[in-house]
Amino acid sequence: MTLQLGDIAPDFTAESTDGEISLHNYLGDSWGLLFSHPADFTPVCTTELGRVSALKSEFDRRDVKVLGLSVDGLEDHIEWSSDIEETQGTALNFPLIADPDRHIAATYGMIHPNADNTLTVRSVFVIGPDKTVKLSLTYPASTGRNFDEILRVLDSLQLTANHQVATPADWINGQHVIISPTVSDDEAKSKFPNGWESPKPYLRIVSQPDD
Ligand code: BEZ
Repeated sequence: MTLQLGDIAPDFTAESTDGEISLHNYLGDSWGLLFSHPADFTPVCTTELGRVSALKSEFDRRDVKVLGLSVDGLEDHIEWSSDIEETQGTALNFPLIADPDRHIAATYGMIHPNADNTLTVRSVFVIGPDKTVKLSLTYPASTGRNFDEILRVLDSLQLTANHQVATPADWINGQHVIISPTVSDDEAKSKFPNGWESPKPYLRIVSQPDD
């Protein structure tokens, strides 16, 4: 069955470049980002792992623990990490999970047999502190992901988890947001005492709330 938003992210214990990891225990009360790679020693994946390592402080700032996953074994992961450091200018600084029997990949639906029978697609799962799936994205093997977009989505997920707002198209952190349609005007008056712009009754635009 496909893993859907709101489902508990299945727990697992696996070897990684940072030792054995049990997902739920490892995440603790933090957010998680689990993303899969088709295979070790492949060019696009090499750039992605370098990019995410370069963005570590951005993930840390958002209290997001990052985990990569590839269906190769730990020895290959360790050898590949040296290539990542050599070619991307940043050492791998988060765990890369080894999933040689494809157990985790199968549980998370990371293998799409009509795209490729054995390699994973580029899956992304954002996991909330309550261990439920908050976001899933799927890219084909031939398209590297945009990690600035993933940081942007994390900002939206974290904001909307704490405030009754939604974020409009192309929103970036700091810009105006939308009052959730589930909030009545009366409730909105107490939550947003400075008021809002309302070009239509269902479109209520307000400054981004503080944390
Ligand atoms: C890559 O990471 O470069 C890649 C992996 C599998 C298929 C195509 C590209």
